[in-house]
Amino acid sequence: MKAGIDKILKRTQAEYLDTLLPPRDALLARMEEYAAEHDHPIADAEVAQLERLMVRTLRPKRIIEVGTNIGYSVIVMGRECSPETVIETIELDTDILAVAKKFVAEAQLPCRVKFHQGRALEVLTNLDGADFVFIDCVKTEYEQYLDLMLPKMSAGGMIFCDNLLWGGKVADGVHDPSTDALRAFNHRIMTDPRLDSIVLPLGDGVGISIVK
Ligand SMILES: C[S@@+](CC[C@H](N)C(=O)[O-])C[C@H]1O[C@@H](n2cnc3c(N)ncnc32)[C@H](O)[C@@H]1O
Repeated sequence: MKAGIDKILKRTQAEYLDTLLPPRDALLARMEEYAAEHDHPIADAEVAQLERLMVRTLRPKRIIEVGTNIGYSVIVMGRECSPETVIETIELDTDILAVAKKFVAEAQLPCRVKFHQGRALEVLTNLDGADFVFIDCVKTEYEQYLDLMLPKMSAGGMIFCDNLLWGGKVADGVHDPSTDALRAFNHRIMTDPRLDSIVLPLGDGVGISIVK
C-alpha cells in the first residue's frame, strides 16, 4: 500500500478500494517489492489496473511511455498487447533502465518494446506519433510532452497522465514548480479544444484525454 494513501481519498475509502484490486502475478508483486525497497516511483496498483483496462479496450498499435522507471507499466500494458503493438518507453537514468530491461525480458511480453535512454523532451522530438501516450515523468515538463505529442496524434488517441493531484498539493493551493505546473496542466487538458478530458481522484490523480 502506498505511503500517501489518504492524501487524495479518505483513508477508509482508499483502504476499501485497495482490497478490491485483483492480485498481482509473481513478477509484478516482486517489482512492487523492489520498487518499495529502492524507493522507485512506479504506478500505483489501482492506476496500473486502469492502464490495463484502457489498453485492453483501445488496443493501441503504438504506445509511448514518458518515464520508464523499472518497467512496471511496460509490463502491465504490454501484457494486454498483440505482436503488432510496439511500446516505446523513455528513461533518463541508465542504471534504472538496465533494471527495467531485465524485468521486461523476464516478462516475455507478446508485443515489441523499444527502450530509449535520454531526456524525454529530446527523445519525444524524434519519435513518431502514438495512439496511446502515458505521461509519467518530470512534472514541470508535462505540458511540453503534450505539445510535442498532440500534433502527432490522430482522433481517438488517448493521453493518460499520472500524478495530476500530486499528493493533494494541487487542490490545496500549494505553490512550488511541480505543483504549479500540474495545476496549469490540468487546466490545459480540460480546456484545450482538441481534447476531451477528465481528471480522476485515482491513485495520485489520473488524467485521461481523448484526441478529438
Ligand atoms: C514516475 S517514474 C515512471 C514510472 C513508470 N511510468 C511506471 O508506471 O512504472 C518517472 C521516471 O522518469 C525518469 N526521468 C526523470 N527525468 C527524466 C527525463 N528528463 N527524461 C526521461 N526520464 C526521466 C525517472 O528516472 C523515473 O524513473
